[in-house]
Amino acid sequence: MWRTLRTTSVAALAGALLLLAGCERPPMEPVQKGFRGTGMEVVYNPRTVATLVPLNQPPAPSSPVLPNEGPKAGQVYKNVKVLGDLGVANFNRHMVAITAWVSPKEGCNYCHNPANFAEDAKYTKVVARRMLQMTQTINTEWKPHVAATGVTCWTCHRGNPVPEKIWFKAEGQDMRSNFIGNLNGQNHPSRMVVGTSLPNDPFSAYLLGAQPIRVNGATALPTGNRASIQQAEHTFGLMTHFSNALGVNCTYCHNTRSIGTWEGSPPQMATAWHGIRMVRAVNNDYLAGLTDVFPAQRKGVTGDVAKVNCATCHQGAYKPVFGAQMAKDYPELLTTGARPVDGLPPPVAEAQRSVLFFNVGSATLDAEQAKGLASIVVTMKAQPKSRVTISGYHSAAGDLASNQELAKNRAVTVRDSIVAAGIDTGRVVLDKPLQTEANIAGEDPVARRVEATVK
Ligand code: HEC
Ligand code: HEC
Ligand code: HEC
Ligand code: HEC
Repeated sequence: MWRTLRTTSVAALAGALLLLAGCERPPMEPVQKGFRGTGMEVVYNPRTVATLVPLNQPPAPSSPVLPNEGPKAGQVYKNVKVLGDLGVANFNRHMVAITAWVSPKEGCNYCHNPANFAEDAKYTKVVARRMLQMTQTINTEWKPHVAATGVTCWTCHRGNPVPEKIWFKAEGQDMRSNFIGNLNGQNHPSRMVVGTSLPNDPFSAYLLGAQPIRVNGATALPTGNRASIQQAEHTFGLMTHFSNALGVNCTYCHNTRSIGTWEGSPPQMATAWHGIRMVRAVNNDYLAGLTDVFPAQRKGVTGDVAKVNCATCHQGAYKPVFGAQMAKDYPELLTTGARPVDGLPPPVAEAQRSVLFFNVGSATLDAEQAKGLASIVVTMKAQPKSRVTISGYHSAAGDLASNQELAKNRAVTVRDSIVAAGIDTGRVVLDKPLQTEANIAGEDPVARRVEATVK
């Protein structure tokens, strides 16, 4: 079928429509989406749907979610920055799960040096940590798209280290001294646009950049609408991808009586609108930022990192994994929980005074924050008669009594660090402040702190 399309010089748009509606062998199953007479039907190919079913059976969790009791991973392990608030048992359950989702053949060693699980020497571990944050962000900040269903690593990876559906920027066209002119990425049938001759990179402009997708004129006559035919072709390229990625027709999202308007369009158009913004954010905030971490063989012809489009999650289904509620078995992916350490303010490190910040609910001093103690330790070694006073604080959210206990434990952690740096315990004084809690309501990273002052 691809070959026929390639050799036939059907106009690009007709090609897209033909492919979606006309090329497949009957019987097809139409499902009515809109009012009768509006032609709003989605046509499914039952054979395609049948092949998708086995590919979309999510792996069962290795064990039920465990109560989050006992020592936390952030306390027990050396280098846990995202999942630090998970109990150790749940943390290990999570490691087993991501191994099954991302590197089942390669195992733990795909990300770890088995001699030292704490080290970050393998790029895959650095990427995986960022992916943890990315997955949490998708599930918490993009609910208008992913709803309560959410995503896990498996949604994209499906047991492969590199997800099957990714995209790179297309190589620039060889212009041959401008003899052939600008082909606008056309006549190079591309899988990105389902084998049509539409522009072969419909993604850079819309799923990385934020170029306007809309091209329809708002006036009856062709005055005022500046959008070119070339732009419209890019929009159609993107829409072809949408339909293919979700296994649906244009009418799944559009009322074709009036393609661009919300009124009369199925609610899926709004979900898709949020999806476009979500994919842009994922590509810019997470994947593009990892470009230098990935080795050359993982990058595209222009040296760019692999990126996400609608197919990365959907893989031919109207909802990824046909809407299976998989993420609910991994509550740690449905919250940003403890803010990542890079979300904390940097420690204050003056000669006489240190201020160190802590994650939500945590009394563990992160390595980055601990660096804030270096200057006062130097001062105290130079001034053998000096003493240091340590006070712990907490934010206003939560129960006061347990927060005060937390503030005290934070102060104790800092005392132990100073003692470990070679200062006599007798020179370290714990001082409970009159007011330990913050004046600002709610969680506040600036309030979750310990102050240490040399006198
Ligand atoms: C896809 C990559 C990946 C795989 C596979 C993986 N891990 Fe991890 N592991 C990580 C990341 C990322 C962290 C750090 C998490 C954080 O910062 O919150 C980590 C941290 C750990 C730690 C904490 C080490 C320390 O002292 O800081 C242990 C222990 C661990 N993993 C064990 C395992 C085991 C056992 C397996 C196999 C069942 C496994 N991991 C498979 C990515 C992976
Ligand atoms: C929205 C889709 C998506 C989700 C969700 C996702 N990833 Fe990824 N992941 C990608 C893409 C895209 C790449 C880049 C492909 C490459 O490696 O070239 C990638 C790459 C990786 C790599 C590097 C593999 C390699 O061999 O280069 C690791 C490891 C990884 N992801 C782990 C995870 C973990 C762990 C999770 C869940 C916490 C996760 N990913 C969730 C899309 C996703
Ligand atoms: C998954 C949902 C979805 C599918 C399927 C889909 N579209 Fe769209 N389409 C959208 C959204 C959302 C927008 C608006 C994007 C924006 O405003 O950023 C849009 C915009 C458009 C526009 C621009 C409208 C304007 O006001 O200029 C055209 C034309 C269009 N789609 C045509 C199509 C065609 C043809 C198909 C089938 C090949 C299709 N769409 C399939 C969601 C979809
Ligand atoms: C990070 C994974 C992910 C990516 C990438 C993604 N989606 Fe989704 N999408 C989901 C999830 C999860 C749902 C199911 C939400 C629910 O259960 O209501 C969904 C639902 C939808 C729906 C609603 C389906 C329905 O029948 O209610 C549409 C439409 C949609 N996505 C379009 C898109 C488009 C268009 C893109 C690309 C611009 C895209 N999605 C990219 C995860 C993703």
